[in-house]
Amino acid sequence: NFEKLNITKIKEAKNKYKLTVITAYDALFANLFKDSADMILVGDSLNMSFAGKSDTLSATLEQMIYHTNAVCNGAKDAFIITDMPFSTYINKDEALKNCSEVYRRTLASAVKIEGGEDRAEIINHLTKNSIAVMAHIGLMPQYVRSEGGYKVRGKTKDDEEQLIRDAIAVEKAGAFSIVIEGVKGDVAKKISQSVKIPTIGIGAGKDCDGQVLVWSDMLGFFEEFKPKFVRRYLDGAKLVKEAVEQYRDDVQKQSFPSQNEEY
Ligand code: KIV
Ligand code: NA
Repeated sequence: NFEKLNITKIKEAKNKYKLTVITAYDALFANLFKDSADMILVGDSLNMSFAGKSDTLSATLEQMIYHTNAVCNGAKDAFIITDMPFSTYINKDEALKNCSEVYRRTLASAVKIEGGEDRAEIINHLTKNSIAVMAHIGLMPQYVRSEGGYKVRGKTKDDEEQLIRDAIAVEKAGAFSIVIEGVKGDVAKKISQSVKIPTIGIGAGKDCDGQVLVWSDMLGFFEEFKPKFVRRYLDGAKLVKEAVEQYRDDVQKQSFPSQNEEY
């Protein structure tokens, strides 16, 4: 019963059903996710969980294009969004040039850009030039160094009002959806009620129009720490470690390979 979404259907989902979004970085996992998730995000979080870096800032356009192609190959009919990496959309012209590069060299359906009111003009330029844009407001990981850390947003009335202005600005600029990250639940609810496009929350409570999780967090492959907002649906790391230990034991005992496993 899975049907490929497009931006019209995604917008129509608001107030009908909650959208499910998951990240993927490669063909293998994208293929496993494609029949259950409404959208697959090739997040620049891959710079951390795939490439082992400490934040997302050093992700490059080439890296994002490489992983987007892998994900598209593994999930042919999925609605796939490419995260635009840090410093690839510093002004309208750079943004259009780099997003066009993603559209030309991959089958991504849309791109994602961090920023609210401050980036509305850029988003407007992209959407006017036929690029589908998902915005990303609230806690924005590409601002980690300039903000001095990852900080939950929406704790003051001023910040709440700023976030609502951000959401309205990106909607007006033509974004088809907004990721709301790390925002107090009651504030994310107000933001979601302030716009007609669906909001996709991560660490933003239950009243967003959908949810997104990083696949390696929700499947328990990333063990170092578990943010409060992550629900682990699988003990991935434990299962993989146990399996590889078992493999090693079998090799040492010479119970692998068996007669059936040899030519
Ligand atoms: O990079 C990413 O995975 C993201 C999600 C957390 C929304 O931007
Ligand atoms: Na991201």
